[in-house]
Amino acid sequence: MQFRFTEEHEMIRQAARDFAQKELLPGVIERDELQQFPEEQVLRLADLGFLGMMVSPQYGGSGLDTISYVLAMEEISKVDASTSVVMSVNNSLVCWGLETFGTEAQKEKYLKPLARGKKDDKLYIGAFCLSEPEAGSDATSQRTTAEDRGDHYVLNGTKNWITNGGKASVYLVMAQTDPAKKSKGINALIVERNSKGLTVGAKENKLGIRGSDTHSIMFQDVIVPKENRIGDDGFGFKFAMKTLSGGRIGIAAQALGIASGAYELALQYAKQRKAFGVEISQHQAIQFKLADMATEIEAARLLTLKAAWEKDQHLDYTLSASMAKVFASEVAMRTTIEAVQIHGGYGYVKEYHVERLMRDAKITQIYEGTSEVQRIVISRSILK
Ligand code: CAA
Repeated sequence: MQFRFTEEHEMIRQAARDFAQKELLPGVIERDELQQFPEEQVLRLADLGFLGMMVSPQYGGSGLDTISYVLAMEEISKVDASTSVVMSVNNSLVCWGLETFGTEAQKEKYLKPLARGKKDDKLYIGAFCLSEPEAGSDATSQRTTAEDRGDHYVLNGTKNWITNGGKASVYLVMAQTDPAKKSKGINALIVERNSKGLTVGAKENKLGIRGSDTHSIMFQDVIVPKENRIGDDGFGFKFAMKTLSGGRIGIAAQALGIASGAYELALQYAKQRKAFGVEISQHQAIQFKLADMATEIEAARLLTLKAAWEKDQHLDYTLSASMAKVFASEVAMRTTIEAVQIHGGYGYVKEYHVERLMRDAKITQIYEGTSEVQRIVISRSILK
């Protein structure tokens, strides 16, 4: 066993760190305040090859491993989780699913521009539509229907809290074709943004990751050709679950980045701020907080990297991904709360960044499966 990154890993980490510091940090507070989608920055991510990191070069991707993806996600999330979620959804939920389960024609038509993040020099990203107003954690209870009409499906229903909802060119939509078959009656369909009958609802006004683009998507008699179904008839729920297992590694890395970003700011602040005649880092009350933060972040990093390594080795990573996500997201929450506390009154105002990181951390306990869902996956696995 070796706890060492390759030279290529280090280069990717450095490239992501440079990008985050130079191109994400300026303006991150304003984008959060104004709920402004980081379009220019996402286009730069596309140029860096970070929107299709794990996709084979044959389909326009960077051909990198999951460890590289985790390293890049961590660095970008340290600074701007609104940007890293765009990257995570496009990489893990959209590109990976299409490359692994899509047909050659689907890869040619959709995966290539999605992995590049651009088509005709314009932004081209995807969204993953599983959650519904009444089906979040209980994902098998899909109310959106995809009626089979021979050579096409007719899609009706509403999807909620869709990341990239207003910016996506392509939606991967889970819908029920045969309710009697329950989860085995669900199909995953590729739906183009300009399809007749597809409407994007108002942008959600969120607590955190405010720069990211979250909307409801409504489908009214949307015609989807059969060639846009991913996998065999009824494969949609398995597609969603398998895809989400990898997605959870991305969100674990995002949570890890939010935690380590807050920790680094708190450490720096504690070495400068004086109270009772010494730097506050000289007080044991602060030292112990920093020690706990550093220890938990390291544990979250190891769990996340283990899940990524298992994925790269083609091992079953569902359990590790859920463990990494539940742990890293809870570390992100605890760490950011303590980072605000260490900053005292300064931590409560926007210019010190830690209050934003605390708000951003919360979503990592909710999306791509809540902490409770991760515990369902973990307990089922260890008790089987
Ligand atoms: N891989 C392959 N198959 C899987 C699987 C996996 N990881 N997990 C479940 N399945 C299969 C099961 O084996 C079962 O198939 P069989 O009937 O053939 O055995 C089928 O799927 C149904 O599974 P369950 O019986 O386990 O279903 P359940 O109703 O008990 O639900 C659950 C399980 C884990 C709670 C699941 O519903 C779940 O993960 N819910 C959370 C959904 C979620 O993560 N939503 C996030 C939305 S996307 C998002 O947030 C993106 C974004 O924009 C950022």
